[in-house]
Amino acid sequence: MNENKIDVAVLGCTGAVGQKLVSLLGNHPLFNIKELVASDRSAGLKYSERVGWREAVPIPGHVGDIVIKTLSEPLESRILFSGLDASVAGEAESRYASLGHIVVSNSRNHRMDDDVPLIIPEINASHLEIVERQMARSGSGGFIVTNPNCSTIVLALAIYPVFARFGLDKVMAVTMQAISGGGYPGVPSMDILGNVIPYIGGEEEKIERELAKIFGRLEGGSIVPADFTVSATCNRVPVRDGHTVCVSFSTRTKAGREELLDAMEHCYPELKLHSSPEKVLAYNPSEDRPQPLMDVLAGNGMTVTAGRLRPCGILDWKMTAFGHNTVRGAAGAAILNAELIVERGFLKK
Ligand SMILES: NC(=O)c1ccc[n+]([C@@H]2O[C@H](COP(=O)([O-])OP(=O)(O)OC[C@H]3O[C@@H](n4cnc5c(N)ncnc54)[C@H](OP(=O)(O)O)[C@@H]3O)[C@@H](O)[C@H]2O)c1
Repeated sequence: MNENKIDVAVLGCTGAVGQKLVSLLGNHPLFNIKELVASDRSAGLKYSERVGWREAVPIPGHVGDIVIKTLSEPLESRILFSGLDASVAGEAESRYASLGHIVVSNSRNHRMDDDVPLIIPEINASHLEIVERQMARSGSGGFIVTNPNCSTIVLALAIYPVFARFGLDKVMAVTMQAISGGGYPGVPSMDILGNVIPYIGGEEEKIERELAKIFGRLEGGSIVPADFTVSATCNRVPVRDGHTVCVSFSTRTKAGREELLDAMEHCYPELKLHSSPEKVLAYNPSEDRPQPLMDVLAGNGMTVTAGRLRPCGILDWKMTAFGHNTVRGAAGAAILNAELIVERGFLKK
């Protein structure tokens, strides 16, 4: 392919996140998909023969003819995007990093490791620095970078402006999560149509742990978690794409509605990475937004939409946030992280 592009591999290429990675990387100006990896069930077959393609765009040009590899075959690409099932991601990602690869992961396994950053570029790009510790440890130049859980990303982008300007004391979040968040084919249609499932294994703990690390401060090469209380309740709802989060919060310094809206409007830096949306967080003043059907494609799926900011009778304020779980919450987040890694010169280290 284009010689000026950086060759990359997609691990877990047949899954929901893997397919979204393939579709978003298809025309990417920096990255070229050279290799694809999945389980033994898929290995040895051409991608187009094996994948149950569920994206709204065709499989990108040359990718359909790539023969899928197993986790045990060597890879040539320096950057590996991982959408591997959590049952295999932990060990595989560590091994690839020890072999000198840069692993940009969606999986939960390494998110809370001491020397693995949990990056949302608009919030904590400086945390990338801690990969130096991984590089020193392995001596291979390889490292792992993770993006947070899909609901955590939506919630984090919605409330970071409040945290940054006024501090947070308590956060209480209730999610309504799309079916695609559980991978393909996900919850059987008989179990989810006309229904709400008030449990998603491990999800509440992830939100509660990950927020503090994302908002944490970098001190002497380590991340000191931010100090506020988080309580999360997670539900699976019959929506195809996009997670909704109803959040109540109290702040350290008291804030008025206009001040909160001003923080949300002006908090985020203009990153100018290829996948950066024009607006990271868009506040919609309509009384009945955000809604999955109308807001899922905001900023090509990379914008989080907030709305309904109003006083809360228990904590200080409450609002609703919404974002695309497989784009902003997974594949798009990983690609943004890889663009940051390249921009900060880590490919040359
Ligand atoms: N869906 C989301 O919105 C979302 C958001 C954030 C993070 N994540 C995380 O991203 C990861 C992928 O999620 P998903 O929703 O895309 O899951 P998925 O649809 O079930 O896909 C899992 C992928 O892992 C591969 N795989 C499974 N067992 C394997 C093995 N033993 N060796 C090699 N590859 C294997 C599968 O390949 P085969 O087809 O060959 O089995 C498939 O490509 C998970 O860790 C998940 O927690 C998902």
